Amino acid sequence: MINLAILISGRGSNMKSILQAHKSGELEGINEIIVVSNKVDAPGLEVAKKEFGANTIIIRPGESKQEFENNLIHELQYNNFLKNDGLICLAGFMRILSPEFVNLYKNRIVNIHPSLLPSFKGLNAQKQALLAGVKVTGCTVHLVDVGIDSGPIILQKCVPVFDTDTEVTLSQRILIEEHKIYVKALKLLATNKLVIKENRVFQI
Ligand code: GRF
Repeated sequence: MINLAILISGRGSNMKSILQAHKSGELEGINEIIVVSNKVDAPGLEVAKKEFGANTIIIRPGESKQEFENNLIHELQYNNFLKNDGLICLAGFMRILSPEFVNLYKNRIVNIHPSLLPSFKGLNAQKQALLAGVKVTGCTVHLVDVGIDSGPIILQKCVPVFDTDTEVTLSQRILIEEHKIYVKALKLLATNKLVIKENRVFQI
């Protein structure tokens, strides 16, 4: 059994679906979950505490990226995380992690992105999809490497783009699928069902 740290900055709907799956026993392989926010007022913090009684931690920005990440590492270790190959999952976490941090937890940091990567990396992926006029977009769960939204892909799900879509309606339709594939990917990782070879991830 491994532990999981969910890093958030905002509303935390992906965090909520992961906590929900854990609560209902769906997330085999995952023992304890802590929620870490870099924002004092992230709405997800209340959800984690009130609805799930989760252990929540706030890491303030600090004077530099290094100070922030040192504090994050300290908190993870203090909470007995990552001793047995724990996982870190980014769920709307709006900070870019340094190469040093990413390499420290190589292949143990996961992210969800609202597009079919490698298309539409970075911010406002749903808006980018609408502007590009694509008929299909989706979401991707991937391992985090030192690039932006560029690590090995674990799972993807397609979502159609309708003529009537706005950024809001498209984001909502993608989010429903995000919640499903994030839980599925974490389950695969936590139960050692994935093999990573260079940039490809295989299910075994
Ligand atoms: C999601 O769309 C996720 O793909 C992106 O940020 C958003 C976070 O939403 N990385 P939430 O906080 O999980 O509701």
